[in-house]
Amino acid sequence: MSQAQPVIAIYPGSFDPLTRGHEDIARRTLRIADRLYVAVAYSPTQTKKSLFTVEERVEIIRDVFAGEPRVEPVAFRGLLVDFARERGARVVIRGLRAVSDFEYELQMAQMNRELWDEVETVFLAPELEYSFLSSSLVREVAGLGGDISRFVSAPVMARLEAKLGG
Ligand code: PNS
Repeated sequence: MSQAQPVIAIYPGSFDPLTRGHEDIARRTLRIADRLYVAVAYSPTQTKKSLFTVEERVEIIRDVFAGEPRVEPVAFRGLLVDFARERGARVVIRGLRAVSDFEYELQMAQMNRELWDEVETVFLAPELEYSFLSSSLVREVAGLGGDISRFVSAPVMARLEAKLGG
């Protein structure tokens, strides 16, 4: 890659909701990329019921990264690689929390490369304190009245409270 070309990365996910672990990965990405799309996937095949709509998740990401002009929240449908190509993003970012994430992540990285051979997947490790954190656990704990304020930022907290009547 030429020195002059900006590195545009895309960090795809469900982000239902964005956790501090996701935030950490996004901020780490800014050390190695010039711009970052945090891309919320519409998943028509998703069986689990989502807590936030895709639009709400994008708004949350916008609020959390309001002071960071290099981060652009977006929603996308269809194949990630098609969207990435459209936006000129050749670097896909994924967080790896533990070995248990690895198999699925490697499969996705290999499939994405089969679909578009110019894409590179970069795995980043989150801060240790977030290595157990997931959106599904945050949803579950919040839904049962547990304190999740350590695991999500204020804009997420506010929306969770509004949604769950807390
Ligand atoms: O946070 P998640 O749910 O683990 O994210 C999974 C996601 C959204 C990154 C993945 O399902 C995805 O890329 N979906 C878009 C459709 C697609 O391109 N599927 C083929 C992936 S190999």
